[in-house]
Amino acid sequence: MARSLFFVSLLASLAAGAPQPFIVHETIESVPQGFVHAGTPSSTTELSLRIGLVQNNIVGLQEKLIEISTPSSATYGQWMSTSEIAGFTKPSPQADAAVKDWLAANGLTAASTSVAGDWLTIKTTVGQANSLFNTEFQQFNHSDTGKTFIRTLAYSIPASLSGSLEVVHPTVTFPNPISGPPSVQAIGKRELTSLERRDMSKRAIPAACADITVPVCIQAIYGVPATNATSGDVKLGVSGFIGQFAQTADLESFLTEFRSDIPSSTTFDLQTLDGGSNPQGAQNAGFEANLDIQYTVGVATGVPVTFISVGGDSSDGELSGFLDLANFLLNEDPAARPQVLTTSYGTDESFVSPAMANSLCNAFASLGAAGMSVLFASGDGGVAGSRPRSCNNFVPTFPSGCPFMTSVGATQGFFPEVAAGFSSGGFSNYFDQPSYQSDAVNTYLDTAGLLEIGRFNASGRAFPDVSAQGVNFVIVNGGDVGTVSGTSASSPVFASIIALINDRLVAAGKPVLGFLNPFLYSKGAAALNDIIIGSNPGCNTPGFPAVIGWDPVTGLGTPNFAKLLTAVGL
Ligand SMILES: *[C@@H]1O[C@H](CO)[C@@H](O)[C@H](O)[C@H]1NC(C)=O
Ligand SMILES: *[C@@H]1O[C@H](CO)[C@@H](O)[C@H](O)[C@H]1NC(C)=O
Ligand SMILES: *[C@@H]1O[C@H](CO)[C@@H](O)[C@H](O)[C@H]1NC(C)=O
Repeated sequence: MARSLFFVSLLASLAAGAPQPFIVHETIESVPQGFVHAGTPSSTTELSLRIGLVQNNIVGLQEKLIEISTPSSATYGQWMSTSEIAGFTKPSPQADAAVKDWLAANGLTAASTSVAGDWLTIKTTVGQANSLFNTEFQQFNHSDTGKTFIRTLAYSIPASLSGSLEVVHPTVTFPNPISGPPSVQAIGKRELTSLERRDMSKRAIPAACADITVPVCIQAIYGVPATNATSGDVKLGVSGFIGQFAQTADLESFLTEFRSDIPSSTTFDLQTLDGGSNPQGAQNAGFEANLDIQYTVGVATGVPVTFISVGGDSSDGELSGFLDLANFLLNEDPAARPQVLTTSYGTDESFVSPAMANSLCNAFASLGAAGMSVLFASGDGGVAGSRPRSCNNFVPTFPSGCPFMTSVGATQGFFPEVAAGFSSGGFSNYFDQPSYQSDAVNTYLDTAGLLEIGRFNASGRAFPDVSAQGVNFVIVNGGDVGTVSGTSASSPVFASIIALINDRLVAAGKPVLGFLNPFLYSKGAAALNDIIIGSNPGCNTPGFPAVIGWDPVTGLGTPNFAKLLTAVGL
């Protein structure tokens, strides 16, 4: 009886052109920690939503990516063109038509925001979005920052679109307003002593590197050459978000003092998207952006560095920015595109909806397939996530849980180099353990991992993959000299070294390293300094211990330039 009534009312509503039956597409149990419900927004409030369409063969792309990034494969290094990648990621004609017809029937024109046509953007209102997605968008305030966001705890899509529509964002993904810059701990004003200054000009590892880190320390500890890159064909990209601006005057002061062997006029290129900009002047100095620029230009000697400033709606955190940046780079002429990208922003995985996390992760897979090494800082809260916080279960970070990017943790000191206690590491609750890391991670789990069993998900993708120095980096910010610590420092350092290896590869007529992980966990492992001391406390536990082999504090270890050259066959 109920059934036939339903049928009758369905026919009636179809006849009237009213909405079709909906199915719930994504839902979260409760308002995330730190947010409070703050009322119902006016139905005329404007909303910009990104719609991800189901890609026609993303599993095919993931398999191809693993194949071309595995050194033992016959097709290793045969990176794909944008159109080859789009062959896998574009939606099927049926999915494309289904979603666009539905939007058109609701008077909406979708702007395509990706070369494969797998992402659309619509401009709508809260009132219309409520009926499109059978939901009620609400206003939520973030208690600590007072920022206001429009989100919902669940949204639905017409049943006929299931299988065509992958994700709508932002909906159930709450931003982490304190997530960026996640990884810089503090800047304290600190002038170098004259003794430190003199010491830093020595060729061996200067003793002062025990207290502070400058480029000469990175060069000495990892054997990184100070000579110019020569191929002329490699580039290194640094992403910038949330109003963090890299200053040319600060870079010049930094190089004058800490890379006096290269021209202090060495600078970086700028690319912008989503209305991004890079205003100059001490009042615009961002210590994250300055750190990232000073330790790429200052370490990847002679490699052109591009600062990519992503603008856009800061109320969305940086997640839409990650997506737009990935689509921007994919669409870029390969000759102009950096083959290495370092990003020192991230969030806790639980803040990101599984569908959005998956879609972003697949965007990083596309970049990897195009021959890019995509590196992110792992986070600064030890096992507690992107930042220290109280917790019971360990908190994995995003995007470090994504298997198609390279996550970089932090170390400090030398002889011995040890784990930095804030270095985030652990196991994703969203992504399965990829096969390239099974041997390394299972060896860890069989021994040390048992200590904190029950607080983490042993079947998840484990991170970080690698690590690098990340403590007491000297930077110039707004004219002041200070020190910062964080995995934010480690990612630019590792990325710079990969860019220099790429330079040697290209000079030798070989392809660039591209997606790194299958290389790192096979041939590359022997080229990394295994870190076996330290741990990453958090959640009122000692965290994970660093041990022989891979560990969820320092990954496989830190770079050894000479051994990396050997590992890539140079
Ligand atoms: C939420 O934030 C807005 C804007 O800052 C403020 O006007 C409002 O009073 C806040 N509401 C609650 C419930 O905190
Ligand atoms: C490195 O390249 C820069 C810019 O091309 C140049 O000014 C500098 O002299 C070069 N340094 C060396 C040691 O070749
Ligand atoms: C553990 O991780 C797997 C992915 O490897 C996931 O399917 C599962 O839901 C996770 N468990 C919890 C409790 O989050």
